[in-house]
Parts: sequence; C-alpha cells; structure tokens
Amino acid sequence: MKRFFIAVFMTGLLFGCMDKTKQETTPSFQKWWKEAIVYQIYPRSFKDTNGDGVGDLKGIIEKLDYIKSLGVTAVWLNPIYSSPNDDNGYDVSDYRGIMSDFGTMADFDLMLKGMHERGIKLIMDIVVNHSSDEHEWFKQSRSSRTNPYRDYYHWWPAEKGKPNYRYSLFDEKGDAWKYDSVTNAYYLHYFSQKQPDLNWENPKLRKEVYDIMKFWAEKGVDGFRLDAFQFAAKDTTYPPFPEGFEKNFIQYYAMQGNLHGYLQEMHQEVFSKYDVMSVAEGAGNTFEDAHNLVDEDRKELNMAYAFEGVDIAKPEGYSILHFKEVFSRWDSAFAEKGWLSIFLSNHDQARLVSRFGNDSPEFRAPSVKMLNTFVLSMRGTPYCYYGDELGMTNIGFETIEEYRDIAAINGYKKVVHSGGDVQAYMKALKFSSRDNGRTPMQWDDSVNAGFTTGTPWLPVHQNHKEINVVAAEKDPNSVLNHFKKMIQLRKDNPVLVYGKYTLLQREHPEIYAYTREMDGKKMLVLLNFTAKNATIELGEVAAIKGAVINNYESVAVKGNAISLLPYQAVIFLLNGG
Ligand code: GLC
Ligand code: CA
Repeated sequence: MKRFFIAVFMTGLLFGCMDKTKQETTPSFQKWWKEAIVYQIYPRSFKDTNGDGVGDLKGIIEKLDYIKSLGVTAVWLNPIYSSPNDDNGYDVSDYRGIMSDFGTMADFDLMLKGMHERGIKLIMDIVVNHSSDEHEWFKQSRSSRTNPYRDYYHWWPAEKGKPNYRYSLFDEKGDAWKYDSVTNAYYLHYFSQKQPDLNWENPKLRKEVYDIMKFWAEKGVDGFRLDAFQFAAKDTTYPPFPEGFEKNFIQYYAMQGNLHGYLQEMHQEVFSKYDVMSVAEGAGNTFEDAHNLVDEDRKELNMAYAFEGVDIAKPEGYSILHFKEVFSRWDSAFAEKGWLSIFLSNHDQARLVSRFGNDSPEFRAPSVKMLNTFVLSMRGTPYCYYGDELGMTNIGFETIEEYRDIAAINGYKKVVHSGGDVQAYMKALKFSSRDNGRTPMQWDDSVNAGFTTGTPWLPVHQNHKEINVVAAEKDPNSVLNHFKKMIQLRKDNPVLVYGKYTLLQREHPEIYAYTREMDGKKMLVLLNFTAKNATIELGEVAAIKGAVINNYESVAVKGNAISLLPYQAVIFLLNGG
C-alpha cells in the first residue's frame, strides 16, 4: 500500500540555518549588476517635500532609509533633467541640469551620497533618442538650414515634397514628420512633436552625448538606462515601408542602421572607463538582436531589457502557459551567454497586481506576493517598480480629463479624429494606461497618503487608507514584509541569481513550477497563477527539505502531490541538487 503523509512546512523554517552556497561560477562571470535588485522610482510620484504636489529629490532623500529597508541594492531613477514635461521628463531641455520641479544639483549630490552611504547604486535614465524641442540644440537647429546644429536632428526639406510616412507613437495624428515653417522643412519625432529625434549619424552629436554621460559618471552614478535607444539609428534615406508596417513599430523602427556601431563607440568612450552598468530599453525583434546588444565580446551593453514578457498581460486576461513559455524561452536563449532584466512592471505599464495578478480585495495580497516571488526568483536582474512592494493597484480613471499622460491624451485625439471607437479606447486605457502606474506612492492613511501636503499632480488612490507603508510595516504578513523576505532570500542564495533554471511540467494549466540549481544547491519554485486551489505531482517532492518562503502559513504535501491555495507561492529547498 502506498504510504501517504501530510507535511506542513512553516514559512521561514529554514531562515538562518541555511548553508552558505559555494559558488562555482567564475569570478569574471559574477558582477554586481547581475546580483543587483533594482528598485525603480518615478520621482514625480514618490514623495513631495515642498507642497507643490510633485515629488522631488528631497523627498527621495527623506525616504532613503525606507528604500534601504527594502533590501534593494540599486535605484533606477526616471529622468530628473530640466524638461518642459511634455512627457514627464522624457523630453530633456538640459542634460546637465536638474528639473526645477525636482530640486537642485546640490539635492542630487546629497541624494547620491545618501544612496552610496547605504550601499545603494544609482542608475540614471539617459534619454538620447530624442531631446526636447526646447533644448538649445533644437532651438539652434530649427533657426536656419545652415546653423551648426542643423544636423543634430533629422530634417527633410519641403521642396523635396513630403517625406515617406513614418509612424509616431505619441502624435495625435500618428505622423512622425512635423512641418516647420521657419526653414520650410519637416523634422522627425517618433514620440511627441516636442520630442524631436536626434541624429546619431552626426559624430558631433554623439560626442556631446558621451560627454553628458561622462559628466554623470564623474559625479559617481553607477549605471545608465538608455531610453528608447533601439530606435536611435535610422535609415536616413527614409525609404517607403510596406503597407501595414505602422502596426509593428519594433520590426520596422528598431535596430536599424549603425546602432551597434554607436553602442560600441559608447562603450569605448564611456562604459569602459567607469564601473557603470548599462541597459537599453528594448531588445529588438529576435534573440539574435538581443544577444548582439549584450554579448560581452561585442562590448556594447550589459543586459537586455526585452518586452515580450511584460506585454503578455491583456485586458481579457492572459494564458499562464504563454507566460511560462515566454519566460522559459528567454531564459534558455541566455543560458550560456548574455544577461537579462526580469520585470513585470515599470512606469510605462499599469500596476503589476492589476495587470498580472488579481486586485480584488480577496486576492490582491496573495497574488502580488506570488508575482513578486516570481520576479525575485528568476535568473536575471530583477527590476521592481515603486508601489509594487505594497501591491498598489490601478486607479482606473473614467474620463479622459483625468489623465495626464501625453500618450493617453494624444491617443484619445487620434481615435476621435479617425472616427474610431472612443468607448473601446477608454476601456482599454482604464486597464493599461501608464497613469495607472504613476499615481503617488502611498505612505500612510492621511489625506493624500502622506505624499504631499498640497494637491497631487495625479490623484492618490482611495485605497491608500488600507494600502500604505505605515500599515504594511506593522503587519508581519503584509505584501511589503513578504517582499523584504523574498529580497533577503535572493541575497542569501546566489543560486537564485546565477543558478540554472529548469521548467517543470510545462503544460500544467495552473501552476508555474521550476527549479534553480547551482553548486549542489537546488530550489523548487511553485507558483499558483489562479484564484483556485491547484495541485501538482512532482518527483522532486521526495527531496524537499523545507519551505524557505511561502505567502501562506503552510503548504499541503501528500505523497508526491502538493496542493496550492489561490495564488500560493512557495519556494522549497531540496536535498542534494
Ligand atoms: C520610453 C520611456 C517612456 C517614454 C518614451 C519616450 O519608452 O520608457 O516613458 O515616454 O521612451 O521617451
Ligand atoms: Ca515638490
């Protein structure tokens, strides 16, 4: 007769008594940026200290101890440079200046010092696919066809007729060419009209950019995230694209021309001279593109930041089989060479729990803990977005007047102009708008969640009465405390950083199961992606030593079957390996 037994593993049973893992990985393979746990801060929404309703650098300084308490080891800061804020700082008018809304260079220096004192690295966002139209370069460039800055941007003389169509992501007509009467010419803008694209073919422009990056590296910043950089190189003859191309922006606009040449030059000029990490937003169309960006021998970037995973979530839901397939495929493509970023949220997405989890009162906490367990137990560098450590949710605006994001507002105008389905657009926006992910950080249950004493630039979510830092810090079972435990687990176990990833039971419809193993140490990760109980039978169960983290109090094991509660996430330490 088969023997059954029920074992209940208590969370944290093994904390403190785990072996220190011997690392077999070669020292040259080990890098601080691979071991980093990145916390992304949208400065506008983090903490306001002067009551103007806009977050600022002093606010970040005030919260440095909080950031440290999370256990994260690096901060990625969205742009903080001088900007007219057409796209909240992604339209830079002075790359060496601090946006007046955010403070001064003295504040910046203090902030950086405070981070370094706490062992936290700083990654800056470098926005050089385009600048603001209010940047001095563009003011000069637009002033005459013979101005020395003319070739810093892409101009098309109108006497040659209208250039071939190019799609703009933020333009209210979707047209990337804007006519400028001053010199009777069109300029190119893949984003808004106030974000003209820079001309990377011009070596003077490239040198300016490297000098800017060196300026920040000299100040001591630890890394750069290159915004929209996969679009920086263009075929400047502007040939026609095949019909329907505008639907696939990445395919026709990314990884063009001499992009790799520019990155190699940037590596030579900047990255090779400082201990800085580098990551570009987007990784092209294929694994080959992504590898070409990050294969060490090519001397371009450190890690790929690919969108396929984050794009899986749709308003109608998503398939967990698809989710597993995408993350497993990307892992296997980088098993030997290259390095990946792991993320499910950022400032261009709605909230993690509302997109990938379940934000109903019943399942919000377990589902976001499960998602945080996933992000922090995969191979690759995890990027966690502010507020996801609390399980902040979508605000879900109903009317277009409530939105602040240029992408939402101009997208709306585009639908209206073209006679599209406005209702469907508003519904989609409610689920996926970037403003959902940008509402102010919820610090406490006071008016405006302790974010500001003034009127916040974007409303604070009403649920801050329950979901806030003060409450979460007090509750041992909060999303926040689970997040901290998960970070500590990753830091204590390099197997979670470098260890081999193996997917188990690819076809299991509810549970995502995988192992991580290295140097004789092996962990089993089980994640229930559904709101129902789910069971999985695994040979590995016999080797279980105990649970090292669990988002419920216990886990039911019977024979070789493990039953998980809704959104239960457990990591087991296994014998042997
Ligand atoms: C990137 C940024 C996004 C910005 C765009 C234009 O996609 O992440 O926030 O709007 O580039 O700079
Ligand atoms: Ca402020």
